[in-house]
Amino acid sequence: MKKAYTRRNGRKEKALIRLKELFYGNEGYCFVMKEQGKTIGFIFARRQQWGNEHAVNVDDMTIARGFQGKGRGAALWKYFENKMKSAGVARIYLLVHVKSRAMKFHRKNGFWKMGDVLMEKILK
Ligand SMILES: CC(C)(COP(=O)(O)OP(=O)(O)OC[C@H]1O[C@@H](n2cnc3c(N)ncnc32)[C@H](O)[C@@H]1OP(=O)(O)O)[C@@H](O)C(=O)NCCC(=O)NCCS
Repeated sequence: MKKAYTRRNGRKEKALIRLKELFYGNEGYCFVMKEQGKTIGFIFARRQQWGNEHAVNVDDMTIARGFQGKGRGAALWKYFENKMKSAGVARIYLLVHVKSRAMKFHRKNGFWKMGDVLMEKILK
């Protein structure tokens, strides 16, 4: 594995660091928003090291129906983002459908569309 990665990236030491990051670098987060004892929203995310930087991948964010569109998502997001900043995270990534309302939400919260494309193959 180290050899294959070295061939792709050039330097042996770098390849080893990257492989260690991939094997051991994931740390999970779950932030929960509660109102009157009830969970009304959450964010699940995973932290990954990329060279000298730490990035976070948001796996899911939800505000319960009936509570949406009233600023809760923005408040939860702000809390999450501040926590990530103080934990030394430099970047946040997430996946969202281009035609969804969530796309508008994330744009409002400072995200932009990257050039990468998610590819899919269906195994039946
Ligand atoms: C996307 C989501 C987390 C946003 O949280 P929220 O509390 O509804 O959002 P806020 O009230 O803080 O912000 C409102 C803005 O978000 C956007 N928005 C996205 N989904 C919305 C929804 N269902 N209802 C209202 N606004 C929504 C709008 O742009 C809105 O701004 P506008 O009123 O000026 O058009 C939440 O609506 C949700 O859980 N939706 C369903 C699940 C989902 O799409 N999750 C995201 C996966 S990446």
